[in-house]
Amino acid sequence: MCGIVGAISKDRNILPILITGLKNLEYRGYDSAGIAYLRNNKVTIKKITGKVSKLESKLNKNDNSHLGIAHTRWATHGKANAINAHPHRYKHITIVHNGIIENFKELKDMLEKENYIFKSSTDSEVAAALLNYYYEKYNDIEKTIKEFMNKAIGSYAIGMIVDNDKDNLYAIKKESPLIIGISNNTIMLSSDIRAILKYTNKYYILDDYEYAKINYNNAIIKNKTGKQINKELKEYKNEDTTNSKGKYKHFMLKEIMEQKETILKTALPFIEDGINSLLIMPDLTKYKEIAIVGCGTAYHAGLVAKYLFTELTNTRCNVYLASEYRYQNNFLSKDTLTIFISQSGETADTIAAIKLVKSKGCPTLGIINVEESSMTFLVDKCLYTKAGSEIAVASTKAYTAQVTILSLLVLSHAYRNKNISKEKVLEIIDEFKNIKTLITPLLNNKEIYLAIAKDIYKEEDIFYIGRGLDYALSMEGALKLKEISYIHSESYAAGELKHGTISLIRKNTPVLCSATNERLNAKTISNLKEVLARGAKVYLITDEKIKDDNITIINIKKTSDFIKSLLVIIPYQLIAYYTAALRGTDIDKPKNLAKSVTVE
Ligand code: AGP
Repeated sequence: MCGIVGAISKDRNILPILITGLKNLEYRGYDSAGIAYLRNNKVTIKKITGKVSKLESKLNKNDNSHLGIAHTRWATHGKANAINAHPHRYKHITIVHNGIIENFKELKDMLEKENYIFKSSTDSEVAAALLNYYYEKYNDIEKTIKEFMNKAIGSYAIGMIVDNDKDNLYAIKKESPLIIGISNNTIMLSSDIRAILKYTNKYYILDDYEYAKINYNNAIIKNKTGKQINKELKEYKNEDTTNSKGKYKHFMLKEIMEQKETILKTALPFIEDGINSLLIMPDLTKYKEIAIVGCGTAYHAGLVAKYLFTELTNTRCNVYLASEYRYQNNFLSKDTLTIFISQSGETADTIAAIKLVKSKGCPTLGIINVEESSMTFLVDKCLYTKAGSEIAVASTKAYTAQVTILSLLVLSHAYRNKNISKEKVLEIIDEFKNIKTLITPLLNNKEIYLAIAKDIYKEEDIFYIGRGLDYALSMEGALKLKEISYIHSESYAAGELKHGTISLIRKNTPVLCSATNERLNAKTISNLKEVLARGAKVYLITDEKIKDDNITIINIKKTSDFIKSLLVIIPYQLIAYYTAALRGTDIDKPKNLAKSVTVE
């Protein structure tokens, strides 16, 4: 997703701040980058397709500036090329933009009637032109910004330079995240405070329809009526500011290995003092139904919770893709608690779904990883996952942290609902306390994952199957493989294969499966026999004592339903990782993908 950095300073060259900030935003995914800065009262713009390091090489070493903006672009409107890259300039106005101007076509038509001529095919250039149009009309930048907010529909985080205004940087925000970083004699803009932690950890969060006029020693923040807003100065404290891979080749492998710690770190507040801690979890007994909303991996974590809620607490639970949920009739009621799951807390579809539920006055709960991200200010209550910064685009430790919170939420509900005895609850709490012992052997079992990866990495189509909870896990397993190896991999309910998909099974087609449900395993094994009979290569993760020379088996310890997802997913994550490594893909930043999808 696009990333924005801006800076204005009294006494330092801000170009290094802009480049460093862009490099720290690379994890969001992008395909081009650009920078605009004031030199001798003239705006200099440099834009490239490719990596930030290529942009950096375009700067002369004696380039120096006290005011500038910069951007990494994840293409939405228009190809990934230098013309479409940001910053976009229209006469007096230069901007960087994250978001989508939904009515850009209508605005472009209006401006073309005013003899505006466009170079790019982007909505962002139209935003720059619209700002210029109002600036020329009113010769008043604040009036210009307010008019822009009235006319532009969609989402925007904008950093702006105005010609002949060398003392101010401007910011405009609606839906896409934007913060103002404060340090002495230098003030910065960023999509994410973590991008500028090298310079400050103190920042203001801009809310929707707010804009700011920023000079080097203060930021005046106003709402769309022009009323000045006094903001709380936040201090980012997350100790996990190490954006380094350490001894690992990729962030993804590092983050997979960190699960030894992050699962327990997430669970601890809710288990350290036994049931007393568990009952810190919100009381769900007053709700008749649980709805869960998320995207991608977050959605898959919700599917695990659906299984646990319905099977273990007899509570109706449905899980929805946020992009679908926000446009359908959801029969919302105050008796339904809607839980929103998100690692970044910035996913546009999930944010829109939260706003929809809140607009109906219905209760919301967030399970979010990034503190003080947009969603955390929207939900009624937030349960933080403690996965720490997740840099790799493919989510791993955030997923297991989400499943941990959800499993403990269900466990607390099962206890309050009297679906489970106190003794059983204490046993499961001990399992969580013992997670490191359970998970470490799976993390270290590299040989078998490598062997499987060597078996499958040249394949075109790979299937993941399972029943019940194992079906939910097969979805996350398939997503991990496809998003980093670019192999077409699909998840199917094991019982569903014979209704069509089995026609795709040919000799050596890999089928990966988990079977961890005593009641369903015999059926799942029959499904494996069906694909074996058609030449498939079968790989099975199971806690059962199963012996079959035609199946490669990965054994996991038998545990409660609350824990088993955290074990099964480890082989799936590492098989995906080693397969992608053999294919030589950009594992941490897979093509076309972004870490935080802040546009629809
Ligand atoms: C997961 O590996 C993907 N990177 C992606 O599906 C991600 O889970 C999805 O975009 C949701 O992101 P969020 O958790 O930050 O809302």
